[in-house]
Amino acid sequence: MTFREILEFRRSTRIYDGTPVPNEIIQSAVDDAILAPNSSNLQLWEFYHVIDSEKKKALIEACLGQSAARTAPNFMVIVTRRDKWRDRCKSNLEAIKKGDRAMSQTGIDYYSKLLPFIYTDFFGIFGVFKKILMTLIGWKKPIYKEVSANDIRVTAHKSVGLGAQTFMLSMASKGYDTCPMEGFDSKRVRKILNLPKKAEINMVISCGKRKPEGIFGERYRLPLEDVYFEV
Ligand SMILES: Cc1cc2nc3c(=O)[nH]c(=O)nc-3n(C[C@H](O)[C@H](O)[C@H](O)COP(=O)(O)O)c2cc1C
Repeated sequence: MTFREILEFRRSTRIYDGTPVPNEIIQSAVDDAILAPNSSNLQLWEFYHVIDSEKKKALIEACLGQSAARTAPNFMVIVTRRDKWRDRCKSNLEAIKKGDRAMSQTGIDYYSKLLPFIYTDFFGIFGVFKKILMTLIGWKKPIYKEVSANDIRVTAHKSVGLGAQTFMLSMASKGYDTCPMEGFDSKRVRKILNLPKKAEINMVISCGKRKPEGIFGERYRLPLEDVYFEV
């Protein structure tokens, strides 16, 4: 398939035919997904392929019983792990030092000073202080202002969303269907996966093979001129 054909093939599938997706297809789609661009290359994502039948049953319930979940043979839950920023700074630093990545002192400073400044918080208090500081500096010169705990949550979800889309496009390229879902009870999904408090569910993605009636109607998109602007 061409890239355009993959995009056209990928439709949110609400009724699957029951054909299970082989493990290697899912794993290879995750292997594609982790090539997605992500903020500071911190890779604050985790991919949970739910295979346990009891967990699947609980997940369908946590997805409010919607048909995209109820009829799906496979599930991928994609999670943000902003709590892992220290580990990921460390592994980036190790990669730089090993020479795996062409980076200079700037890279070392980035992961050992700048990112710790941005990511460190103390019950949200330091975040507020940083926000005020950045706003003050920002009066004089352009400066990055997304430094509060909430900003960091958004940053993590942006990156993980790109991973999720790459996963779905990869699945489409292999002839498999998906449905991204945000209609779920996050507390229950977190419990099923046994996630720590700071992990957040970005998307639950059901996977399988569509039934023809599993695609609800023609695709509708706004015309390009409504969303594309040259400035
Ligand atoms: C973040 C996100 C959450 C979504 N949540 C649900 C959902 O809970 N249930 C569902 O059936 N579809 C869900 N969708 C699918 C959208 O409804 C769908 O992408 C949109 O209608 C466009 O259709 P298409 O994906 O076939 O192009 C979600 C999509 C995204 C990106």
